[in-house]
Amino acid sequence: MDNFDLVIDRKDSTKWMKYRDTDVLAMWIADMDFKAPQAISDFLKERSDSGDFGYTDAPDELRAVIVERLKDSYDWSVEHNEILFIPGVVQGLNTVCRSWVQPDESVITAAPIYPPFLKAPETSGRKLIRIDTEPASRGYQYPLFALRNAITAKSRLLLLCNPFNPIGRVLSFSELREIVDLCLNHDMLVCSDEIHCDLVFDGRTHIPLAKVDERIEENLVTLISPGKTYNIAGIGGGIAIIKNQALREKFLAASQGVVGDVSLFSYTAMISAYRDCESWRRQVLKYLQGNRDYCEKRVEEIPGIKMNKVEATYLAWLDVRGLKLDDAPSFFEEAGVGLSDGEEFGGPGFMRLNFGCPRAILTEAWDRIAQAVDKHFGNSHYSS
Ligand SMILES: Cc1ncc(COP(=O)(O)O)c(C=O)c1O
Repeated sequence: MDNFDLVIDRKDSTKWMKYRDTDVLAMWIADMDFKAPQAISDFLKERSDSGDFGYTDAPDELRAVIVERLKDSYDWSVEHNEILFIPGVVQGLNTVCRSWVQPDESVITAAPIYPPFLKAPETSGRKLIRIDTEPASRGYQYPLFALRNAITAKSRLLLLCNPFNPIGRVLSFSELREIVDLCLNHDMLVCSDEIHCDLVFDGRTHIPLAKVDERIEENLVTLISPGKTYNIAGIGGGIAIIKNQALREKFLAASQGVVGDVSLFSYTAMISAYRDCESWRRQVLKYLQGNRDYCEKRVEEIPGIKMNKVEATYLAWLDVRGLKLDDAPSFFEEAGVGLSDGEEFGGPGFMRLNFGCPRAILTEAWDRIAQAVDKHFGNSHYSS
């Protein structure tokens, strides 16, 4: 049984380096403060002990475990040759924008969204059309109306994030159905980033976009990776599943000579993650769900902060507009908690809190936030 309560030293991680020599708790970038599964460390060690670090091709075993996993988890049938390996999912987003969209065509995405979705079209020289996801009474819904209105003859690609970072939604079949219908009717391609698909709470089911309608599979790349789920993002490695041969070739041609090969350690870690770590995944999911519930409880007691139900991921999207802050990131950092600024996701007035950490750190973070909010209202609100 893994001990997720254990506080480990992560001072050399990007996450904690940002706050080196300070007392700020790092709760921003999306990796977790847990040790990765022991099975992955053991398998990497075995590979490392072989001393063979020459060029390597994607192992057949990796393709086999991915095919099996997709079949078992989602009843989704994928052939070995439809799987491409990439150094990371963000690289996949960028390659799709470059290779599938002409310079005079546009890319649509719904914000708030993981920042590379907003950057990839423009750094690729393609036009971004951003639609906005409005919070509704039942939590966020995918902005289908806005999508319908945004599509023009020049719209070529939809970048979809499901489960949806940062708002934590697992899109429902009916939402996905409408998205698919709109894309099919307007001959749009889709890039579906499903990197958080294995971190879904409350017994919900993730539905791969590919499973909604087999016709969309011909216009689709699905991006996945074990990086988030098994906490191995620093090792790198992602998976692009493309059924359509012409689209697959375009994707490969755009990567040729520009994107480096996937490292043999990435392949090794990916095999072990998908083959050996299902029990670890179930345990971490349970722990994260407990952390999610704990965040909800704390938020209820704090005036000025709201949080919608996190259905997946380990990221809470906090609505802090009620605090009426001039500079929200600094407010939280001064309180001793380093969060991600919602503005970078296209959501000003919101902050993203990463609850993938031992409960003791999470408790301390909420204590600090509660105290800072008390003081804030004590000074500015209640005294007036
Ligand atoms: C939706 C989403 N896609 C991609 C990534 C990053 O993937 P990679 O590190 O494989 O580029 C993240 C990281 O948080 C993410 O949330």
